Amino acid sequence: MNTGKNRQFRLASRPVGDITPNNFEYREEPIPSPSDGEVLVRNIYLSLDPTNRIWMSDRPQYMPPVAIGQVMRGGGIGVVEESKHPNFHPGDLVSGLLGWQDYALALGNTGNGISKLPSPLPCPLTAFVGPLGATGITAYCGFLDIGQPQAGETVVVSAAAGAVGSVVGQIAKIKNCRVVGITSSDEKCRWLLEELGFDDAINYKTANLETALAQSCPDGIDIYFDNVGGAILDAVLTKINLHARIPLCGLISAYNATEPVPGPYNYSQILMQRAKIQGFIILDYLPRFPEAMQELGQWLNQGKIKYKLEIVEGLENAPSAILKLFDGNKIGKLAVKVADEPV
Ligand SMILES: NC(=O)c1ccc[n+]([C@@H]2O[C@H](COP(=O)([O-])OP(=O)(O)OC[C@H]3O[C@@H](n4cnc5c(N)ncnc54)[C@H](OP(=O)(O)O)[C@@H]3O)[C@@H](O)[C@H]2O)c1
Repeated sequence: MNTGKNRQFRLASRPVGDITPNNFEYREEPIPSPSDGEVLVRNIYLSLDPTNRIWMSDRPQYMPPVAIGQVMRGGGIGVVEESKHPNFHPGDLVSGLLGWQDYALALGNTGNGISKLPSPLPCPLTAFVGPLGATGITAYCGFLDIGQPQAGETVVVSAAAGAVGSVVGQIAKIKNCRVVGITSSDEKCRWLLEELGFDDAINYKTANLETALAQSCPDGIDIYFDNVGGAILDAVLTKINLHARIPLCGLISAYNATEPVPGPYNYSQILMQRAKIQGFIILDYLPRFPEAMQELGQWLNQGKIKYKLEIVEGLENAPSAILKLFDGNKIGKLAVKVADEPV
């Protein structure tokens, strides 16, 4: 809906501990006009991601923090409304760091650039928020490149019912691995087992994790795709095999920490098992995005990858919706619907 104004959420203060809606300031600005080389995009879906919490802080990180007073940074999908760039035309669907607002001014190629989605779309637009978006590509690149899965190996993934974890587990099944997911509720465990084809799922809120891992992984753990760090990483380290690989994707258990977080107690197992732990940021893999999207798209169309989106209606609800990433109160990929999809 064109309201004639550009609703925005700007960063008002840096969170101390959990994010609160007061960390954002609501503003209404005029809809901007593109200058030469720029494109005006109307946002449709705003992706809510754990990294938003990192960007809100001023701790050392992989991109500049969002400045106080700046429009909150966020990935999204939108439609071009007006273009002064030769490669973009009104009606084009694009993705990029569009921000927490109705309208974004984007550069066509560099800086806060946008990328065109394929036309015609090979699948529903929502797939580009989910498995064909940044989180699916993160799963694909981190798991395949650092995990180096071999058929028959045992793979464990944490935050397994989330955007990245659910895709990691399904790719691991495609690669003929045994897959065990760790997540926070029986409902999420059922989704992993009954719909996504995981071999086992552990509710870390109710199980003794070390005991449950020993039962679920009788041959030990060859790959641990770490989305959370903390106590879950520590428990997994007690079960890793010789030459295990640990793609370190995220540390969400520490993002709201107000005190320094100690390293894993069982760190010695990295040495004893000659394991490899490697952090990565999806931006490292930009050249592989087309390959990842193509293969993920094929798996999606073959029904080998399934996904669930938790879509919160309305930009106005973004500041409260983001809390769902940290209280675990959602299944699959979290996003906000800012405007209707074009017909
Ligand atoms: N390296 C990269 O380039 C890259 C790219 C994308 C994402 N990531 C990272 O990957 C991880 C997953 O991201 P996502 O987008 O897929 O998010 P997500 O899994 O869809 O949502 C976050 C999930 O984290 C779990 N969680 C929250 N607080 C936790 C805690 N204290 N301890 C354990 N688990 C907790 C919850 O799942 P449960 O219900 O299972 O607890 C929650 O649903 C995050 O750490 C994120 O920062 C990294």
